[in-house]
Amino acid sequence: MIDQISGYTRFLRALRAQPVDRPPIWMMRQAGRSLPEYLELKKGKNFSDLVNNPILAKEITLQPLKRFDYDAAIVFSDILVVAEMMGINYRVQDKGGVKVDFDLKNNSDLKKITSNNLVKKNNTPEAIKLISEEIKKEKAIIGFAGSPWTLASYIIEGGSSKDNLKSRAIINENPELMLSFLDKITDTTIEYINNQIDAGADVIQVFDSQGGTLSSYNYWNMSGKWIKKIIDNFEKRVPFIVFGRGVHHNWDALINTGANALNIDWNINIKKIADILPKNIAVQGNLDPAILTTKPNTAIAATKLILQDMKNRNGFIFNLGHGVTPNAKIETIKAVTNTVKNYL
Ligand code: CP3
Repeated sequence: MIDQISGYTRFLRALRAQPVDRPPIWMMRQAGRSLPEYLELKKGKNFSDLVNNPILAKEITLQPLKRFDYDAAIVFSDILVVAEMMGINYRVQDKGGVKVDFDLKNNSDLKKITSNNLVKKNNTPEAIKLISEEIKKEKAIIGFAGSPWTLASYIIEGGSSKDNLKSRAIINENPELMLSFLDKITDTTIEYINNQIDAGADVIQVFDSQGGTLSSYNYWNMSGKWIKKIIDNFEKRVPFIVFGRGVHHNWDALINTGANALNIDWNINIKKIADILPKNIAVQGNLDPAILTTKPNTAIAATKLILQDMKNRNGFIFNLGHGVTPNAKIETIKAVTNTVKNYL
């Protein structure tokens, strides 16, 4: 038996694959649009207004914790703020999806952006400071960034794309151009993460949500090695979680990034992956986000399947296989959370 511990301790122990009383829980995109208090706070403002205001960003970060008492808080921000730091603007559209103003055709486009000489200061570290003052090591604070490839593909496609055809064409026709772009993004991302850690982030998650669109031949050069460069830079100052969505062809590459934990998507059996990974790598996942739109009892059954599968694995964090969707039901999120929290 392990004594009652704080969410902070539970989360960090699980990340280091040490025994815990029960799996820690938080949800990817937990600050999302399913909460009425978020929609209320957002009225009359756009997404950037919220992200760039540390007081509001703190408030939104804490909203889901007040309702569900998760073990960790993920700061309310977006992977696209790194684009903004480099002078590339973006907009979140009311109908969903994002729009990014940039086109990468040749080296002269690269000159339009900046990496060392940041165009715009970013307020996410300031929000982390305020969150940290409020939760006082009771919960872990997760900072984050997109992987360089995932951010590059959003920028090149001009927003959300399911297949990244333009970006994949550039990889093959002009790999040097893509590599220079990734290099610039990586430098900015390192600076951004460094600021988040200085401000109080206990853990960093790198979202390679678009990793699954790369061919297995390209995965390491275009994504894995840049994530490794980021993680190496911090020399284990904080643990890193890597979410490689759809990267089922390349577990070795994900391990080689140096991540302490891998976030598994919902398309694959989490136990099967946990069994092939080294025992010191934690796994996080992997409830299908669609289940949050069903009745509580349906979701409880699906949650128990995962808990049962992972029962004997030290190093397991309960999460979704991707983000909370806007139509997730609050009573179902609650039922899933309580099922994990009461699991022995
Ligand atoms: O998890 C959290 O609560 C923290 C906040 C967070 C957001 N975005 C807030 C957000 C995190 C971790 C992200 C990461 C992010 N953003 C990723 C990687 C993870 C993933 O989901 O794949 C990506 C690819 C983005 C880019 C992005 N930002 C998109 C594609 C969109 C539009 C999404 C849609 O369905 O319309 C956003 C906007 C965004 N980021 C919202 C939130 C809460 C919606 C804002 C709103 O409409 O009010």
